[in-house]
Amino acid sequence: MAKVQLRGLRKTYGNFAAVDSIDLDISDGEFLVFLGPSGCGKTTTLRMIAGLVQPSSGNIFIGDRDVTETPVHQRNIGIVFQNYALFPHLTVYENVAYGLRRRRLGEVAIRKKVADVLSLVQMEELSERYPRALSGGQQQRVAIARALAIEPDVLLLDEPLSSLDAKLRLGVRRQIRELQHKLGITTILVTHDQDEAMSMGDRLAVLSAGKLQQIGEPREIYRTPANRFVADFIGTANFFSGTVAQDRRSITTPSGLQLFCADVLPGVTNVMVRPEAIRLSAAVSKDRSEIHGDVIDISYLGPVADVFVRLQSGDVITVRVDSLWADTANIVAHSEIAVRIPEEAIVVIS
Ligand SMILES: Nc1ncnc2c1ncn2[C@@H]1O[C@H](COP(=O)(O)OP(=O)(O)OP(=O)(O)O)[C@@H](O)[C@H]1O
Ligand SMILES: [Mg+2]
Repeated sequence: MAKVQLRGLRKTYGNFAAVDSIDLDISDGEFLVFLGPSGCGKTTTLRMIAGLVQPSSGNIFIGDRDVTETPVHQRNIGIVFQNYALFPHLTVYENVAYGLRRRRLGEVAIRKKVADVLSLVQMEELSERYPRALSGGQQQRVAIARALAIEPDVLLLDEPLSSLDAKLRLGVRRQIRELQHKLGITTILVTHDQDEAMSMGDRLAVLSAGKLQQIGEPREIYRTPANRFVADFIGTANFFSGTVAQDRRSITTPSGLQLFCADVLPGVTNVMVRPEAIRLSAAVSKDRSEIHGDVIDISYLGPVADVFVRLQSGDVITVRVDSLWADTANIVAHSEIAVRIPEEAIVVIS
């Protein structure tokens, strides 16, 4: 187990910076998730930490050791790749034993270690099978067992769940999380799936175009995104820009929409409102905090429904409501509706 520190980490290919000066401190035992769109530099960063890609500049520390120049096999890192890459000609047992044999462990110690890690991922029963006779999720668990067998200081997981079906993915997610809790291994997971990131990470590091956009706990990133990119990438957001009134209590957009807010700095501002923070009512009243609009469409997502509302100002917003409530509250398409945006729902972003 060890902390990981990235200092000015950079990787360029010609003039293109795949990873652009990343500074990051990952605590001992932390579960950190790198999240960002395709091509933003997640895999490149992970491969630099592993020692598979040489940085163009910057440093990597594992524990108190500068490992920037240290070869892969001396970094004591467990890696699970997206395509799980088990050795097809080796049984589950031999796949897991592979790294231990390379470390010249004795046969008795190997047998014990393999049994231990296979039982952690609940695969001990299938130890004599070949990878081709395993499901995707089972192969994935073997790959994780193989990475854990060498007792790594750091576990690196690059989209390990992307080839699993939705149901299985949920199960393996929980397993990885529980395992990580139990073993306390510093873990870095790469994903472009925001649900996966939010549900697994102690903290998320959001990347875009090789740059770190924000680092923080899932709740913090969701509630107070550092900028529009983060707000848009994580969850759904309604964006407005407008001018703050003298009394700092309202914002008026160019379309004429007035949003009431708590003490916002004067000037032109950009704000975000999460769809679940907006209130709807089929009964329209004359309350001044009410905005009137028409329901354009409703999209049922099971437990919740997204209601698309065109406000009188012409702005179209998304409101997320409990779908059972939507049924009973008579929220239907092509009807007039009252919208309330509570002032605490308005989040100023840069
Ligand atoms: N060997 C290389 N030569 C040139 N460009 C590269 C090389 N490896 C990666 N890149 C570029 O660097 C950028 C970052 O790639 P990377 O694989 O880190 O993205 P990613 O965030 O992991 O994306 P994905 O979610 O699609 O896996 C991409 O634009 C990619 O095309
Ligand atoms: Mg990648």
